[in-house]
Amino acid sequence: MTSRGRQPDLRAYLDAVEDLPGERVVRVARRVSARHELSAVTKLMETRGNPVLWFEDVDGLGIPVVCGVFATKRRISLALGATEQSAVAELQRRRTQLIEPARTREVPVQETRLTGDKANLAVLPIPVHAPEDAGRYITAAVCIVRDPDTGAHNAGIYRTMVKGPRLVTISADPSHDLGKVMKWGADHGVPIECAMVIGSHPALHLASQAKTPISTDAYSLMGSLLGEPVPVARAETVDLDVPAHAEIVIEGKILPGQREHEGPFGEFTYYYGESTAAVCEITAITHRPDPLYLDIHPAHTDHRCLWIFPGREARLLSMLQAVIPGVRGVHIPLDGAGMVAYISLHKHHDGDARRALTIALASDVYIKLAMVFDPDINIFDPGHVLWALALRFQADEDLMIIAGSRGYEEDPSSYSRSDRRLPGGLTTKTGFDVTAPKDKPYPPRADLLPSEYAGINVEDYLH
Ligand SMILES: Cc1cc2nc3c(=O)[nH]c(=O)nc-3n(C[C@H](O)[C@H](O)[C@H](O)COP(=O)(O)O)c2cc1C
Repeated sequence: MTSRGRQPDLRAYLDAVEDLPGERVVRVARRVSARHELSAVTKLMETRGNPVLWFEDVDGLGIPVVCGVFATKRRISLALGATEQSAVAELQRRRTQLIEPARTREVPVQETRLTGDKANLAVLPIPVHAPEDAGRYITAAVCIVRDPDTGAHNAGIYRTMVKGPRLVTISADPSHDLGKVMKWGADHGVPIECAMVIGSHPALHLASQAKTPISTDAYSLMGSLLGEPVPVARAETVDLDVPAHAEIVIEGKILPGQREHEGPFGEFTYYYGESTAAVCEITAITHRPDPLYLDIHPAHTDHRCLWIFPGREARLLSMLQAVIPGVRGVHIPLDGAGMVAYISLHKHHDGDARRALTIALASDVYIKLAMVFDPDINIFDPGHVLWALALRFQADEDLMIIAGSRGYEEDPSSYSRSDRRLPGGLTTKTGFDVTAPKDKPYPPRADLLPSEYAGINVEDYLH
């Protein structure tokens, strides 16, 4: 297990990252500013090996900031004890094999308890990320609330803007579980208690993106991903459990029906977004004696990778395979901002490709371009995908266009129904059937090795 007999926390995980060949945790010793500088360094390092960064001194606040944890699929897979190739299947398997959390009295995350006026967000090194961002944003907190019907702990990650020393906005899409819980709170006039967990073992982040039903307890799922019960303790001021070995927990109450403008905020689209978001009053901050603050740069692979992999890929694959058993795999490439999906399909019928496209485009609001390929195309190789598009696709026959479908409002090319020039939540979904017709198979590929030489070791020819 990744924690190697230690508590399943962020520190044990970072040690495991350092043991992984080719992965690094790079220490930045000099003082950096949380306002733009930290994010600028993180962004520049994205194309220099994309390591985990550990900023030791941020504004002299005495709390190091860790960034980039989720920026590679290998690091995310490590949190599951899996490889990049096995993580999707591993998540599919473990989503149903829940392990209940265990109550513990050893609770490092509550060794410092700040309540009342002392629960002031100014103690934390919360960054300002992109140049036009409206302010400081908490980006890596896993927000825990209870499902009002079952009492299960629900987890999600939502951009959280600091509005005052003890006030934040939480921007959750109404379609997400938190959006539904907030609506329940507004309808019943009841505040929603929440705990924002900053810096835990990343299995909690993966659980938060696993797309399980709201009745699935997030800590039981996290336990399943870790292969052991998660030690938890009751929060200080709200009726919720928190991971005992987290770094920092911010507790609060989401006020019923209150909304406030937030943004601009640079997002995973690499554009800015704004919204009218829920308002949350902070009731406590608890932390370890020497906490680490975890940050995710939003306009970075750190965000995209966690949002896509393995949660959304596993969900899409399960939905496709439930209807079309010939689906071999899916790939939501990071460069497509989570809005493009490649599907590998062994067709039994020519119509299977369009059925697969329909499912992919309908089942995930964010996917606006879907492409189906024959199984000989490596959907993880961008060059191979482009080759197939060039030589196995004719737009007049093989393109499927669905205008006016629900899409992502912060996609600047989305539009409104009354006027295409106005922004809105509508998008045009497009499907590409890049498979060979069954009655007109494509010619053999000339780039494949002759069968008698397919197993040779080229090294033998170089000495
Ligand atoms: C880094 C990161 C930031 C995210 N920020 C937001 C956000 O600001 N608002 C939102 O609605 N979803 C956001 N998401 C997506 C939700 O956290 C995610 O879809 C989650 O699975 C919601 O779960 P649910 O749909 O199962 O309720 C973010 C995801 C990640 C990985």
